[in-house]
Amino acid sequence: MFNPEVYIQRRKILSEKIGSGLILFFGNDESPMNYPDNTYHFRQHSSFLYFFGIDFPGLAAVIDIDNQRQFVFGDDYTIDDIVWMGPQPTIAERALKSGITETLPMVKLYTILKEAQASRKEIHFLPPYRPENKIKLMRFLNIRPDQVNVKSSVELVKAVVAMREIKSDIEIAEIEKAVDLSVDMHLAAMQIARPGMTEAQVSARIHEVALAADCQIAFPVIATINGQTLHNHYHGNTIKSGDLFLVDAGAETTRHYAGDLSSTFPVAPVFTSQQKLIYEISLKAHQAAIDKLAPGVPFRDVHIAACKSIASSMTELGLMKGDADEAVAQGAHALFFPCGTGHMMGLDVHDMEDLGEIWVGYDGEPKSTQFGLKSLRFAKPLKPGHVFTIEPGIYFIPELIDLWKSDGRFTEFINWTEVEKFRDFGGIRNEENFVVTETGVRLLGKPKPKTVAEIEAIRKE
Ligand code: GLY
Ligand code: MN
Repeated sequence: MFNPEVYIQRRKILSEKIGSGLILFFGNDESPMNYPDNTYHFRQHSSFLYFFGIDFPGLAAVIDIDNQRQFVFGDDYTIDDIVWMGPQPTIAERALKSGITETLPMVKLYTILKEAQASRKEIHFLPPYRPENKIKLMRFLNIRPDQVNVKSSVELVKAVVAMREIKSDIEIAEIEKAVDLSVDMHLAAMQIARPGMTEAQVSARIHEVALAADCQIAFPVIATINGQTLHNHYHGNTIKSGDLFLVDAGAETTRHYAGDLSSTFPVAPVFTSQQKLIYEISLKAHQAAIDKLAPGVPFRDVHIAACKSIASSMTELGLMKGDADEAVAQGAHALFFPCGTGHMMGLDVHDMEDLGEIWVGYDGEPKSTQFGLKSLRFAKPLKPGHVFTIEPGIYFIPELIDLWKSDGRFTEFINWTEVEKFRDFGGIRNEENFVVTETGVRLLGKPKPKTVAEIEAIRKE
């Protein structure tokens, strides 16, 4: 946790933004794997962490704005729990660390909410993503699970996004710790991968680096020779010389801030000439996106800069033809780059995605429905304090190639005969994390190996 003043101040700002009524937060509960006492690793709700910092399951909290009271609700461990889990701080002790002195058993939440409803006070809550919190909204507020999203508070979502999207110095320091550790995870993968190993063995080494630092992984590790599948979590292949290996992995610190990096390297000590060609094109697009970054620039323009770079390189290479800018306007480049250039990052690897991309990434503006552009999670103008990823990639997806070719799509922009020569190429992605400052942008954490020379130097060790 940070010190109590951090949370006291955050709740004060949130209360001022909302103005009146009650704000109800549910923390997360333990989530059973196969029976109640055998649980997945506990992960607290990120907005609960942001405003209360208490990293413990089974809690709820209320900010009563009109009466200037704040409560944490939860049930203390019984002696039966303590026998199995050891002595634990009480809910009151935990709440005090967040600057809250009023704690109540969970059943009292019902009373407080009933009283608020009786006096016609508005009760604001965030859209829940865990089934147990949907059930709690049914139990405490009598809202049907299929209604909880529409009945959640847009005003609260907007206020939380406005606060959480601007990272403070202490948050940025925490994110840099996560990125530094993520760099070590990637270096370990680049150092260990050898022909004959399985993807699972490389993935295990990546996990080890995070876990040995008493941290967690921020999302399931991608460690694959089939990088053309954007989120490939299969680790069963044996790797061989000639393969390209894609790693997308990030650490989560003990305060739950994320890093998110991607790297691609040859399983052999050096890239083949074809791999080097496409790798350099992806790196050029990566740099085109970085060159565009500045306070005030819409991230959509950053994404378009990466798309145009890919389209013009692919045109030079003969895989595309015609006017590259027009190809991007019509979405033809999405054959090779069917996703977005980046996303916000913070307490969540895709920060605040549970609050809805339309508020987090688009300030309520409508999102494109065009294939490729519709997967851009973040489009709005960059502000100092924004933390995000840059991760354009180049992917040869055989199923997409076959579909578009058989549908006769983009024959004026795609040279299908040349594309066929690359159908089994795989995929390439580099990913780095940045923060916007008052005057520009800054790479977060220590730099990771990225150029062909840097990567080959490690692979030859
Ligand atoms: N690192 C996974 C993603 O950004 O989607
Ligand atoms: Mn990412």
